[in-house]
Amino acid sequence: MHGCTGVMIVMIQAHFARRCNRMSIAVSPPQYPSAPSLVEYPHPALRRVAEPITVFDDQLRQFCARMFVVMENEKGVGLAAPQVGVSKRLFITDHLRKKDTPERDPRIWINPRIEAAEGTQVYEEGCLSFPGIYAKVTRPNRFDIIAQDEWGVERRQSLDVTAGDFLGIVVQHELDHLDGRVFVDHLTPVQLTLIRRKLSDLEKAYKKSTGQVGAVLRR
Ligand code: CO
Repeated sequence: MHGCTGVMIVMIQAHFARRCNRMSIAVSPPQYPSAPSLVEYPHPALRRVAEPITVFDDQLRQFCARMFVVMENEKGVGLAAPQVGVSKRLFITDHLRKKDTPERDPRIWINPRIEAAEGTQVYEEGCLSFPGIYAKVTRPNRFDIIAQDEWGVERRQSLDVTAGDFLGIVVQHELDHLDGRVFVDHLTPVQLTLIRRKLSDLEKAYKKSTGQVGAVLRR
């Protein structure tokens, strides 16, 4: 059923576009950006705790479709709304994108929560908002994730990372983003030392392009 999500989004987009063409006036200011773009560390949006989504409408679904375009362009396996500057509890994944095949499994996760977490596993993670930085992160191994889809329907899924569910890494990483956490927050002081130079480079680039310091990680 999840495999249909991408096709459905395209159909929704086409439907929405036709409707917009008939309507000549804008009814209300857009809640979501029409052209979302990736923000990188130390952009402060990455540190905000995101708000729950309560309205499951065409605007939301069209925003999800636009997030998939951003994720595809950036060649990511996951993207959270705060990573495009939108402080809402929503992320998207396509964990099969990792493999070098045309296989895809696009999914939308809204207001997600994790229950019954147990065990630990270690996996080398990266993040589109931290280009060029990779580090091993320890997280729970088995857990249930409960989330709504783009229609507001809630589903529960059990994941077991060491049993082969790479998706279990992705959803934990993305859920962190909704709480203003990023993967480098999980690192030990020694691990942080190893990526210190790359973090500094991102901080300098951010200051150069925005004139702001941003939400700099203390280390
Ligand atoms: Co990330």
